[in-house]
Amino acid sequence: MALCLDSDYFTYDEAVSRDWKLFFSAFEDGTRLLDICTGNGAVALLALEAAKEQGKSFHVTGADRAEIDPAKFVTSISEALTQITFDGGVDISNLPYADASFDGVSGQYALEYTNIPESLTEIARVLKPQARVRFLLHASEGTIAQGATRELSRIAEFRAAADIFGQAGRAIDAALKQKKMPQPSRAVVEKTSQAEAKFRTALQACEGTYEKSDRDFVFGILSTLVNALQAVPHYDEPVIRQQFENIEISLDAHEGRIKALSQSAVDFASCEVIGESLRKLGFEPSQILASKVEGSHIGWIVSAVRS
Ligand SMILES: C[S@@+](CC[C@H](N)C(=O)[O-])C[C@H]1O[C@@H](n2cnc3c(N)ncnc32)[C@H](O)[C@@H]1O
Repeated sequence: MALCLDSDYFTYDEAVSRDWKLFFSAFEDGTRLLDICTGNGAVALLALEAAKEQGKSFHVTGADRAEIDPAKFVTSISEALTQITFDGGVDISNLPYADASFDGVSGQYALEYTNIPESLTEIARVLKPQARVRFLLHASEGTIAQGATRELSRIAEFRAAADIFGQAGRAIDAALKQKKMPQPSRAVVEKTSQAEAKFRTALQACEGTYEKSDRDFVFGILSTLVNALQAVPHYDEPVIRQQFENIEISLDAHEGRIKALSQSAVDFASCEVIGESLRKLGFEPSQILASKVEGSHIGWIVSAVRS
């Protein structure tokens, strides 16, 4: 549901949603809200929930640069998601909305992924007088950003450890080659089992390298590699090759998301700059707050009201 809250240290806490609902509940019936960098619409949905709890109705739009379609991917709540207008292919620094068309803007792990000065100018343009904004940003001093740095180094270690992808690839190549032969020679069978044995040894080396906290991640990847090898007798070569390729693609995608998070995280001083920019754009910024989950600092909250 929430794109960057998908692993052990990214817990989507009740307190985070409660604060969002508090922000939304102050808007009047009929309000038009824009959730920037909406992803799968986690925050846009909280806006709808806040309205419903108070017997109000909001028009909520979620914009994201990606070609999003949350109702398709988050099927468990697709009904609720259809009440939100999702606009994909929208860069926040170039919004396709008329001047003064929204009463409020929200953004969770959003603004810091974009060109901040350009996005703020655009956000100010599409907001009405008295409008309010609230952003939750990754704190570079916080737990999530530090967890991301740890995760990046464990991915690098994992890639290097025992050449696990190379060993898996060679074991799969050998098994596929043997499968093509109606009567494989003893030498071919021997080569296949040697390649598999090397892969198993590499697996054990990998498993031994990681601490318990890293196990879900490591074992997830390792078990998909083992599955690909075990699938060789049952599936055609293109299916197996695709499966193997997908494992690396999903690891690359995971690493890309974590890198983006790590690079976009902002410190307190950067939040002050955002507050100053908002002031120049006619807003009255509130005090910058630390967002905490179970005592861990996860982000910075920048909010402001247009005067
Ligand atoms: C970390 S996710 C946050 C998603 C959502 N707000 C949440 O809390 O689950 C960041 C989102 O920002 C989007 N994004 C990044 N740069 C953007 C830009 N310049 N304009 C619009 N969306 C952008 C990405 O596609 C991604 O969906």
